[in-house]
Amino acid sequence: MRRVCSLDELVDGAAATFEVGKHIVAVVRIGEQVYAIGGRCSHADVALADGDVDCDTKQLSCIRHGSAFSLETGVPSTLPATQPVPVFVAEARGDDVFVSDQPTVNTPTPSPRVKRVES
Ligand code: FES
Repeated sequence: MRRVCSLDELVDGAAATFEVGKHIVAVVRIGEQVYAIGGRCSHADVALADGDVDCDTKQLSCIRHGSAFSLETGVPSTLPATQPVPVFVAEARGDDVFVSDQPTVNTPTPSPRVKRVES
């Protein structure tokens, strides 16, 4: 697990992009809960953190074509994306947010060498 930011840095109901180890990860805050999925859409390599979060269904929608990815499974519920994105363990410990540097499910998404990308 790696610390990516403080909880206060995450906007409730929005996503932000971080580099965690070799992966670009979209980290989403919903209330005091945090989620982390692969940061690039499986359809056309678009930054998922640029999309909208549905707090009720716990999905992050791709800004380009609208596929909605589950924050819990990484699986898209709508076309055109058909492939899941990786899912990472994410935890808020006090005011710090930690994300696993390896996905727990689905195919890893290698990332370019960047430190942090604001969404
Ligand atoms: S680029 Fe994400 S759904 Fe097409």
